[in-house]
Amino acid sequence: MKNLISLKSLNKEEIRKIFDLTKQLKGKKTKDLFEKNLVLYFEKPSTRTVVSFFVAIVQLGGDAIYLTPKEMQISRGETIADTAKVLSRYADGIVARVYKHKTIEELAHHAKIPVINSLSDKYHPCQVLADLYTILEKKKTLDLNFAWIGDGNNVCNSWINAAKIFNLKLNIATPKGYEPRERISKKIKLTHNPEVAVKDADVVITDTWISMGQEKEMKKRLKAFKKFQVNSKLLKLAKSDYLFMHCLPAHRGFEVTSKIIDGKHSIVFDEAENRLHVQKAILYLLLKD
Ligand code: CP
Ligand code: NVA
Repeated sequence: MKNLISLKSLNKEEIRKIFDLTKQLKGKKTKDLFEKNLVLYFEKPSTRTVVSFFVAIVQLGGDAIYLTPKEMQISRGETIADTAKVLSRYADGIVARVYKHKTIEELAHHAKIPVINSLSDKYHPCQVLADLYTILEKKKTLDLNFAWIGDGNNVCNSWINAAKIFNLKLNIATPKGYEPRERISKKIKLTHNPEVAVKDADVVITDTWISMGQEKEMKKRLKAFKKFQVNSKLLKLAKSDYLFMHCLPAHRGFEVTSKIIDGKHSIVFDEAENRLHVQKAILYLLLKD
């Protein structure tokens, strides 16, 4: 593993290796990445990702610099290619959250140091790795029924990638016109009916109806997604011991009700915490000499 751009470049063994290491490093502070410096390049807001990556590198003995385009010469037209080449002369890794997935690919192409995708319009691989790890902690297996309810967005695309790698049974329910763009496999079912998707689900996942960068579509999206709320009525169809997941930030009363996200089946904060632990393993594997 040289970069982490999407889950498509990983196989089952590599992901198992990340999870074994996550288990070993969870709760531990080491000097494995002593004096390694990470550039956190964020074009979009973030709470979990930026803090968990910062804490992850510090817990491994390194340090991080947080930058948005505004403070950088990118805002005055410097190219991504030149930026990648220059950052490679100072730092040991780049974590990038970008609008266009192409930006990550360009960074990775020109950088001499590992590049990690911490969300693009296409994928959110670090999120789904943490999600899978959390499910394994709770259920000890991935041989489960998964239901994605809502937008066929970046997180959904990474779930599709994960489903292909692990042969997961994944049902995806989106409104018409909001289907994921990622190619699906035989075991993945697409529907426009959330009830069909949630039937007998062990794990029910949702995300915002309006991803970062889609704010102008708010009115149209709120209308299109109205019937895709994850609520008590819908979850009556899931297994009695279902888990509820959401990458956060959540919009209570929209994609999920407070009763569900704050209820006993919800594991959203364990999921958020595991971002830190899984990312420590990712950093170790990519940055350790
Ligand atoms: N889930 C997630 O990536 O959260 P942030 O946008 O707060 O980083
Ligand atoms: N799909 C959401 C995820 C936020 C972590 C977005 O891209 O805004």
